[in-house]
Amino acid sequence: MDLGLLECRHDYVPSVGLLYAIEEGIGSPREFGLTNRAPVGYSNRMQTPSEIEAITQDVIDKYQKHVNPTQVALLKIGGFDHIEHQAEGATLTDLEGNTYIDCLGGYGVFSLGHRHPKVVAAVKRQLDFIPMGSKTFLNKPLADLSAKLAEITPGDLQYAFLCNSGTEAMEAALKAARMATGKTDFIATHGAFHGKTLGALSATGRDLFKAPFEPLVPGFHHVPWNDADAVAAAVTEKTAAVIIEPIQGEGGIQMPSDGYLPALRRICDERNLLLIVDEVQTGLGRTGKMFAVDHWGVAPDIMTLAKALGGGVMPIGAMMGTAAIWDKVFRENPFLHSSTFGGGELACVAGLAAIQATQEEDLPGRALENGAYFLAGLRHVQTQFPNVLREARGLGLMLGVEFTDSDIGKLVIGTMIHRGVIAAYTLNNPKVIRFEPPLVITKAQIDTVLEAFSAGVAEALDLLGDLLDD
Ligand SMILES: Cc1ncc(COP(=O)(O)O)c(C=O)c1O
Repeated sequence: MDLGLLECRHDYVPSVGLLYAIEEGIGSPREFGLTNRAPVGYSNRMQTPSEIEAITQDVIDKYQKHVNPTQVALLKIGGFDHIEHQAEGATLTDLEGNTYIDCLGGYGVFSLGHRHPKVVAAVKRQLDFIPMGSKTFLNKPLADLSAKLAEITPGDLQYAFLCNSGTEAMEAALKAARMATGKTDFIATHGAFHGKTLGALSATGRDLFKAPFEPLVPGFHHVPWNDADAVAAAVTEKTAAVIIEPIQGEGGIQMPSDGYLPALRRICDERNLLLIVDEVQTGLGRTGKMFAVDHWGVAPDIMTLAKALGGGVMPIGAMMGTAAIWDKVFRENPFLHSSTFGGGELACVAGLAAIQATQEEDLPGRALENGAYFLAGLRHVQTQFPNVLREARGLGLMLGVEFTDSDIGKLVIGTMIHRGVIAAYTLNNPKVIRFEPPLVITKAQIDTVLEAFSAGVAEALDLLGDLLDD
């Protein structure tokens, strides 16, 4: 133990002696000043390369036998077969000690960055009181978060139903819309992504994910994205609602034209339909405003949220609605739709802290400014490789680059990981690599990403060589 203490005081790498002391209960990590370090027995600082290799192989074997063999094969091909170990701000470090700039950002989860101190502190505090409630008494964090959401969301969204994910929020939205209107059908868009449970999947606009599970929920009609006339033409007497992402995320970072969302609002008003806006990916500052619809001054009747709402620390989803909708859904039976875990205290304090930090640190403003800088850089790279990069687009820090061919994009993702940048393609459009980093990313980190992207494209083209000319 003395040896460990001595090493620690002199800021040396914690040794086996120190570990032994902690594991045997002779001293706590806090006593050794280790609270900010990796958990005991799992630190890359203490393991030899061959130990790390053995741990990694063990995890791969378990994925193969008990998780998802094809997924792990793909991770290997893409160069992602490393164990994620620690994360902070815009970066993530693997067990081998390699640090990456996270430009996937958990598909939009890590808007506040990894382990935002205010969210972590709020969750730790709540742990010592009541992490999950009894579901019988009043729940203060749930009440506070619902009120806060009503305050920051546009229009008359007054009530919140709290759940655990984006797809659950969409399920709640679909049920609420049917109940509130007494109608059955929905209009959604090609390329849309709303989740993978059966109802949300029915609203999703890519056959690859849908066809194996048919028949899905009936009554969903898909129209081309960014075409308000197509929506108007698809309305029937059975239509309950129009479902829309303000900017399509998984569809390939598709921007709406300026008149699109206001036109959808008009159609819904004129034809007596509800407008359901899915802000699961765009919400909480990602696009440079608190909500993407704020760019166009559109107020939905129902809004779904998830991802960044948990501050990158807890899973949470929310379906917001107007008083009129709540009255129709819940007045007669307050338990008509419910969730055991939804609205749990830990998740709600994380949500409250996330919103507070987003406002205090003006993360939407940072997303707007750094997003413009990032997009200009991506456009510059695009001009260097016009034969394979079709377009760079997006808003705030929800950015994407469209390749002429999805296979080149996938190769580039692999070349970027070797340069310390995590990126991924959009689920419904593999031709597009998305850049959705934490909103706390710095300009210097953006420069590093741009260099990695440019060099990564050049390397991919080198690798493909003659194949491209054929
Ligand atoms: C716009 C949108 N809606 C819904 C979902 C589904 O969210 P979850 O994966 O939390 O179920 C996603 C996930 O990527 C999304 O991007």
